[in-house]
Amino acid sequence: MRFILVAVLAGLCAVSAISTSESSNYSQQQRDVWRLFKYINQPSYYKDHVEIAHSYYFYDHASNYAKHEVVEEFYRYFKYDTFLQRGEIFSVFHGEHLKQAIALFKLFYYANDFDTFYKTAVWARQHVNEGMFLYAFSVALIHRPDTYYFSLPPIYEIYPHYFYNYEVIQKAQHYKQMYYGQDGAHYNDRTIYANYSGYYVNVYPEQALAYFTEDVGVNSFYYYYNLYYPYWMSGEEFNLKYDNRGEIFYYMYQQILARYYLERLSHGFGEIDHFDWEVPFESGYYPSMCYPNGLYFPTRHAYAHLYEYFYNYGQHYGFNKYAHSYTHISDYERRIHDVIDSGYVHTHSGQKVDLFSHEGLDILGNLIEGNPESPYYHYYGAYQVFARHLLGYSHQPLTFHKLHPSALEHFETSMRDPAFYQLYKKLLGFFFRYKSQHYHYYDEHDLAYHGVHVKHVEVDPLVTYFDYFYADLSNAVYVTPEEFVHDSFKVHVAQERLNHKPFTYKIYIDSDKDTEAVVKVFLGPKYDEYGRYINLTENWMNFVQFDHFVYKLKSGENVISRNSHEIYNYIHDRTSYYELYQKAFGVYNKDQHFQFHDNQFFFGFPQRYMLPRGSPEGMTYQFYVFVTKYHPYKAHASVPMVGSGMHYVDAYPMGYPFDRPVYYEELFYALPNSYFQDVRIYYQGHNYEHHANHLIEM
Ligand SMILES: *[C@@H]1O[C@H](CO)[C@@H](O)[C@H](O)[C@H]1NC(C)=O
Ligand SMILES: *[C@@H]1O[C@H](CO)[C@@H](O)[C@H](O)[C@H]1NC(C)=O
Ligand SMILES: *[C@@H]1O[C@H](CO)[C@@H](O)[C@H](O)[C@H]1NC(C)=O
Repeated sequence: MRFILVAVLAGLCAVSAISTSESSNYSQQQRDVWRLFKYINQPSYYKDHVEIAHSYYFYDHASNYAKHEVVEEFYRYFKYDTFLQRGEIFSVFHGEHLKQAIALFKLFYYANDFDTFYKTAVWARQHVNEGMFLYAFSVALIHRPDTYYFSLPPIYEIYPHYFYNYEVIQKAQHYKQMYYGQDGAHYNDRTIYANYSGYYVNVYPEQALAYFTEDVGVNSFYYYYNLYYPYWMSGEEFNLKYDNRGEIFYYMYQQILARYYLERLSHGFGEIDHFDWEVPFESGYYPSMCYPNGLYFPTRHAYAHLYEYFYNYGQHYGFNKYAHSYTHISDYERRIHDVIDSGYVHTHSGQKVDLFSHEGLDILGNLIEGNPESPYYHYYGAYQVFARHLLGYSHQPLTFHKLHPSALEHFETSMRDPAFYQLYKKLLGFFFRYKSQHYHYYDEHDLAYHGVHVKHVEVDPLVTYFDYFYADLSNAVYVTPEEFVHDSFKVHVAQERLNHKPFTYKIYIDSDKDTEAVVKVFLGPKYDEYGRYINLTENWMNFVQFDHFVYKLKSGENVISRNSHEIYNYIHDRTSYYELYQKAFGVYNKDQHFQFHDNQFFFGFPQRYMLPRGSPEGMTYQFYVFVTKYHPYKAHASVPMVGSGMHYVDAYPMGYPFDRPVYYEELFYALPNSYFQDVRIYYQGHNYEHHANHLIEM
């Protein structure tokens, strides 16, 4: 999964920023920003925060914001009781919450300088709902031209309730209440061993995949993606327009589903289930999670009847559009099918836009995502918003102040519910329907790269295992003002996560000329859960794009060697929040400039989860290498921000050549510039190597 280059560049940029004369301000600003993320469910007790929050009021400084109307708008929400209070559960999928969050985001975004931005944030940290603050502030940091290269602390450490099951949170709190205090030094900094949900409540076979669906890195990846490309954000107003976000939407989900399918195959599970809204929904979901205010996450029993959503009964009509989610879904689904089959989209003013054009896929992506670039938002709607509501199976709230959202209604937790994959499979189905109707199949003329011959691909043995990953869990408990300021309470969490032995692969290419090429490497399934070969016509959508780079081929023989650690489609584990923070304050080494891993500046799929688990006897998958001529993408950037088109390696469609249905399977095997190589992935169980002397068990 790509979307990394932005980040790699941003990383460089930040590093150079540190070494210039602005360095002291940059470090100071970065530290100031981090301090705002601490114990997000409590007010800040830092003296300077308390002072600013008391003395600074955005409305008295309206001239410090580039757009006066955003100040007025936020003021209106804040002044009247419509405002979401602290302690209530925020969901970005509820229209009323979202409106307020966007107003807050705009206030942050249009602050004229860093100082105003910072003071606004400190004020909001104390006065605004914590979930809304965290969301709006994070989106603003990523999209403001003066802060886009700041690093965000790992979300699973900021919001542990959304990433760890309740037994874990409960243990942290238990430990704080029982042991910490009298003899803090002795009992401090224990480690809790976290399990995935199937450990205690095991109700459906697919919980065997919990290490994937509940992984903190996989879920953070999805969360960050949605901070970079919020579905409500206007590309025009906030400079996303050079990124083809409709196409990105398609590609992201295609990649996520393909990756999930590879993992399923490791366990002998087959394709992701298909469902109909009118047939009882087979997969139940029991989240084992609890909100910071004590409310459990809603559950969905197996065979839930979505079409006669009984939670709606007895509620007053008209007030809540989500009560009619099923009707919305049915309407939007029919309209989307009409668009695809007719090849035309209707706009607000009644014009017809041709979908069978160069931009067609992007337009369709915008329409299905329901983002502000949708040609006619009110007509084609926001399918995924209503679908999440319906599938999440939460109660209808009496007011939006007492919302009880399901896991599907937060980006942090969506990927835990098996319904997530089934829903997005349905959405991908729309795209596949479009693609098979409107694209011609690639033929030799389209794909050949004359004079370039991939002769051979060699891959080291691929071995996976589980090891422990440590994170800071301190934010799961409540602390006293004293403990807050001095960071005196610590608790860690250790959890097994998938990993793999480092490996290298070599690609041998003959070329009859010096030429600039693009190399793509895919990882896909070869056999289904019964061991039957899956031909490309049925399999092209299951390939994960593994690696993608530009390479200068020399005339003659070329050997390209890539190490698993340099594949930049993936990111390494994030540095722990407190480690970052302490480094920033020079606690570790006062003389050195602090340095981050550049992984803090962007989002990407976790490197640990690059390979599916495989099986002890070895499970066969296939590498596919495709080499083609380099065509640069025209980026429009002075700075490498999201929206500038800077993350495109080349100008081909995303996923090319598997961006279209495949008809001529033999062609792909016969093309000299491409190569299939079988690989086996061996799962070797647990590796507790560096666990023994790390921390004491509780
Ligand atoms: C830091 O920022 C302030 C204003 O925000 C500016 O006056 C000062 O010169 C900056 N310091 C450095 C070292 O750039
Ligand atoms: C996880 O499982 C292990 C052993 O299976 C157990 O010792 C530990 O207490 C469990 N963790 C939690 C938080 O329940
Ligand atoms: C691929 O498999 C499908 C389903 O088994 C079959 O209908 C199709 O004809 C096959 N295509 C090729 C090119 O073998």
